[in-house]
Amino acid sequence: HHNPMSHGMAEQGVTTRTGLMPVEKMPAGQALQALPVLQNRSDKPGLFQANITAAAHRRVLADGQNTELWLYNGQMPGPLIELYEGDQVEIEFENRLDQATTLHWHGLPVPSDQDGNPQDTVLPGQRRHYRFTLPEGSAGTYWYHPHPHGKSGEQVAHGLGGTIIVRSHADPLRDFAEQHWAISDIRLDNTGHIPPNTGLDWMNGREGQFVLLNGQRQPVIQTRSRERIRVWNTCSARYLNLHIPGARLIQVGTDGGLLEQPLEAVDSILLAPAERVEFFIQTDRNLESTLQALYYDRQKMMVQEQPTTLTLAHLTIRQEELVLPQQLRAIPLVPGASNTTKVVFSELMPMDHDMPMSSEHGSGATSNQHHQNMGAMNIASTMDGNAMMPEMAALRSMFRINDQVYDMNRIDLRCPTGQWQYWDVINDSHMDHPFHLHGTQFQVLARQTGMQSVPEAFRAWKDTVNLRPRETVRLAFRQELPGLRMFHCHILEHEDLGMMAQLMVE
Ligand code: C2O
Ligand code: CU
Ligand code: CU
Repeated sequence: HHNPMSHGMAEQGVTTRTGLMPVEKMPAGQALQALPVLQNRSDKPGLFQANITAAAHRRVLADGQNTELWLYNGQMPGPLIELYEGDQVEIEFENRLDQATTLHWHGLPVPSDQDGNPQDTVLPGQRRHYRFTLPEGSAGTYWYHPHPHGKSGEQVAHGLGGTIIVRSHADPLRDFAEQHWAISDIRLDNTGHIPPNTGLDWMNGREGQFVLLNGQRQPVIQTRSRERIRVWNTCSARYLNLHIPGARLIQVGTDGGLLEQPLEAVDSILLAPAERVEFFIQTDRNLESTLQALYYDRQKMMVQEQPTTLTLAHLTIRQEELVLPQQLRAIPLVPGASNTTKVVFSELMPMDHDMPMSSEHGSGATSNQHHQNMGAMNIASTMDGNAMMPEMAALRSMFRINDQVYDMNRIDLRCPTGQWQYWDVINDSHMDHPFHLHGTQFQVLARQTGMQSVPEAFRAWKDTVNLRPRETVRLAFRQELPGLRMFHCHILEHEDLGMMAQLMVE
């Protein structure tokens, strides 16, 4: 019966009449399942060949109700792809969905024409081979997800997304056992159906009421000090401020692999949408605890939130003596910038035309108050939680990069292959936005809010970095391969509305 193209008004009527599924209706507390691994069909060393199919599946997730999910190989999350630096990778992809899609290799330095760009769709019923070879130095924690124009969020909301690990044969942590925690969220109405976005979802990003770890609600996890833990935030818009009461986290890696050395233990690590982290858990005794997502006050429009702490999992942690190598790898120091490119994220409230924002600046009002005022005056009257407000057309022009909405036929920036580029990514808006660039990893050099520029505390390779409202992040990268690359906000609803732009590497 499913026809994703017909989702929309009719279905919205249905969701208005039904409420959300209460969270307790999904079973919880089962032992954690390891992520299923994608089987390599090849026995030739250095060659990884496998099939991935995207298709609709019915599953009972909560309250005995059927849910139609869209899945990679029938799994949520999709199978873990384990690769080595130097591997030649051939994925035969089949699209059995009712809509066009692509497979994007988030964070991996794959050729532009293999990266699942929105221009490069796989139509319903079609197959497509993705082929790439992983360069040395690419070991890290990545993921794959759909990237079709305007529909990435909808497809991820239905369950599409999977994890990738690229290993190095010279990994200094290779003797440690590993755990993999892929965190996603999903929204179900009380008929078990995945509802379309509300107007607020389009503005603030969609958060599902069920937050899942390896597809499970609040699984029970046994772990220990000598275990390397990789965590993915594959949520559309949910920020995860990870915390384990009674323990501390020793971070050893980011999106693009290991740090130079383990960091000082910390109480919490914030993962914005699409970010990944590697850490060890430090505790001075055996511990029964939980993995929590502490409240993070990401700035939203027209909503006032109660600070809440989410329980993601129940943990039993065995205390062990942990000695980590002090040298993990070298990360090159970036040469000084000669010139920088400005990339400005902004959101233009549809009513800004009649009510210049500048008149409110400097008044001492916080951004939240600012938007609440505007909301009260302009939009709240149409707000019932499901209504589109403002209208879709207005939303489409709201989220911008360098004051433009995404156009797949326009090149926004150009840069030469193999040369250091310096970007000042400026968040000239009232909301947090996670910036993401395709095709390479970057280093964050400094962050600035107001007049104060703070150099980044440690060197790391990243492909996604969060920007606080009014914050500027200076980053440096090289694109080693020519071709077209996207950069965008990784709140998928913002991306889909057009907070995305294109870099031509020449
Ligand atoms: Cu994770 Cu452009 O994507
Ligand atoms: Cu990406
Ligand atoms: Cu955004």
